[in-house]
Amino acid sequence: MEQLTTQQMQEIIAGNELLLGTEQYPNLLRTDSGEIVKFFYPKSRLSTSTFFPKAKVFADNGLRLKKLQVTAPLTKRVAYCATLKMYLVIYDRIPGKDLRMWDEEGNGAALQGLQKYLAELHRKGVMFRGIHLGNVLMDDEGRYALVDISGLSCKSKPLSLWQRMRNLINLLGVEDDQKILLSYGLSQFVAGYCIAAGLDKSDIAYLDRKLSWRLGQDIDALRTLEL
Ligand SMILES: Nc1ncnc2c1ncn2[C@@H]1O[C@H](COP(=O)(O)OP(=O)(O)OP(=O)(O)O)[C@@H](O)[C@H]1O
Ligand SMILES: [Mg+2]
Repeated sequence: MEQLTTQQMQEIIAGNELLLGTEQYPNLLRTDSGEIVKFFYPKSRLSTSTFFPKAKVFADNGLRLKKLQVTAPLTKRVAYCATLKMYLVIYDRIPGKDLRMWDEEGNGAALQGLQKYLAELHRKGVMFRGIHLGNVLMDDEGRYALVDISGLSCKSKPLSLWQRMRNLINLLGVEDDQKILLSYGLSQFVAGYCIAAGLDKSDIAYLDRKLSWRLGQDIDALRTLEL
């Protein structure tokens, strides 16, 4: 991996527009040519990211997703500054807005399309544990993309029912998105997902039971479908 000196890292930070974070601990920068620089800060205690830095996982996942024809950031440069203990990745901005932004603009179709998109990701074996409405983009033509892809893994076959359930909990349980998800309707979302994923009645009943229990909400996708 490319190594950066403190000065080189500071030049990158000072020379680009800060989008998220602070000057001292930036999260996201934008370069003049429209690229995005994303930063990672390794935990001081021992964890899996000590051996598999998130920046490297991010870059590898971009390549895996490309093979699966899932649009996501493709890393052009990954680097580490040992003195500042900072990693960075650089990639091109993907056209579109994230689904929280679409919601602010009153675009409910973005969530409807997400049901189908999530089913497609699951069919391709993509388990995006870090999924939330800020980490999924949609462009003006209704094409979806993923960002923030370090918390993601690609399986060699479609996700099992249990993995689908886990991932629905990842998405539907996000605190920051509750208002949006509840006003859309959790049952409606799950029902749309189940149709798109081609699940049968007993699978849907299983998801209803598990999701209701784990999310503390009455999810009744089966009934929503039968109406
Ligand atoms: N390649 C990209 N193209 C377009 N927009 C992007 C891209 N990467 C990130 N963004 C936008 O920047 C936001 C934050 O990016 P990202 O999720 O990678 O950072 P983060 O530090 O995890 O932020 P948060 O903690 O708020 O999720 C995204 O929600 C998205 O709106
Ligand atoms: Mg994010």
